[in-house]
Amino acid sequence: MSVFIKGGTVVNADRSHRADVVCDGGNIVAVGNDLDAPKGATVIDAGGQYVMPGGIDPHTHMQLPFMGTVASEDFESGTAAGLAGGTTMIIDFVIPSPQQNILDAYRQWREWAEKSVADYSFHVAITWWDDSVYKDMGTLVHEHGVNSFKHFMAYKGAIMADDEILVNSFSRAFELGAIVTVHAENGELVYRLQKELFEKGLTGPEAHPLSRPPECEGEAANRAIRIAEVLKVPLYVVHNSCRQSLEAITRARNEGQRVFGEVLAGHLLIDDSVYRHKDFDVAAAHVMSPPFRSTEHQDALWRGLQSGNLQTTATDHCCFCADQKAAGKDDFRLIPNGTGGVENRMEVLWHHGVNSGKLTMNEFVRVTSSNAAQIFNIYPQKGSVSVGADADIVVWDPEATKTISTKTDHQNVDYNIFEGMKIKGCASHTVSRGNVVWADGKLDVERGAGRYVNRPPFASYYDALKLQAQHAEPVAVKR
Ligand code: URP
Ligand code: ZN
Ligand code: ZN
Repeated sequence: MSVFIKGGTVVNADRSHRADVVCDGGNIVAVGNDLDAPKGATVIDAGGQYVMPGGIDPHTHMQLPFMGTVASEDFESGTAAGLAGGTTMIIDFVIPSPQQNILDAYRQWREWAEKSVADYSFHVAITWWDDSVYKDMGTLVHEHGVNSFKHFMAYKGAIMADDEILVNSFSRAFELGAIVTVHAENGELVYRLQKELFEKGLTGPEAHPLSRPPECEGEAANRAIRIAEVLKVPLYVVHNSCRQSLEAITRARNEGQRVFGEVLAGHLLIDDSVYRHKDFDVAAAHVMSPPFRSTEHQDALWRGLQSGNLQTTATDHCCFCADQKAAGKDDFRLIPNGTGGVENRMEVLWHHGVNSGKLTMNEFVRVTSSNAAQIFNIYPQKGSVSVGADADIVVWDPEATKTISTKTDHQNVDYNIFEGMKIKGCASHTVSRGNVVWADGKLDVERGAGRYVNRPPFASYYDALKLQAQHAEPVAVKR
């Protein structure tokens, strides 16, 4: 099937220009002026609209088994919701239980994801350590297209990685040419503060942000950064929610360290007053970690995105409905952590970023798509409207308006953290691997049409570092 996108302005990370786009066989085959529509092609009239790389959400958790329940959004509904909002690829997480063989976990997640309607890939979490983990990390990189390993520095007693695990895994990732990622919160401190708050009688969601102060995040981010510095491995810090972790990243980048930072649309736009909402269901619906912060932190995060010290935006889409959140009615520590947003990330960032003048359109493309593709080594297959790239494209109508609501969205969760937000600018059409899957407000997706995207290791960068390290080998003093 071929698709002809006619008369739009192509917006890539580096430039914008008027051009038609032809997609055939799942790829972009031509970008240029006054092209002819291939015979039988589906034509999208993009006059007055922007033609951009489909969004990449590098941080989602579809159907994640977590905190005694399973996230309500599965790979089919979640990737479909993404397409309705212009996101054409997700990078989700394989999260082995401690002691679970990591290849078994990887195979389990691959099976769950077969029903995806859009492309996907996986970071693999390292939640425990032994020789088998060391070996299986190699198999994942060499045989399964995994180039990123995740570490949860929080969630003590469950999936938390202590310093010993971080050191072992970071050094193995360096050997393999992979990048490491961290959820940066000091899990010991969080555990202690949760206990103290609960014993003082603070049992509701208002205690959640108090138990996870920004200092806990800043400390963990800095610790991960310094461990990565010593072991020379590139690091990606997920869901930065506060000034403290941003400052740690900025400092390291200024020192020349290869550190990247992600920010969630929710952390840019929602503040911590939500946890003091009178209605438990509303407050609990916002319980996620790290928590939403005060506006001082939001301002810092926007500046981080504008300055380039934060490179990507994500959602951490991890949905739990009210009946699931109710598990923590009497104890905030038991509220399943997670919120949604995969459908809304692009439009809320456009509205609050581009329409407000904080981001240019090209910067918007960078932070919603191209930077993630580059950091996770799938550029320009993804993240670019150019000949040879996958035909993952969003046609963006800058004049369209809508009010975000669970009544009209496609996400499989009963609460939308952006509920009631009025936005201007959204996806009029989404093309996924050359198929028009979103048009005229309707999804036309096929279960299982999404494909697993292999991400190769970062050979040349690491080779250079290893060479440098050989030259700088320490020499024993002869006595
Ligand atoms: O609260 C969150 N973020 N839930 C999903 C797991 C994680 O920490 O990313
Ligand atoms: Zn996390
Ligand atoms: Zn997450």
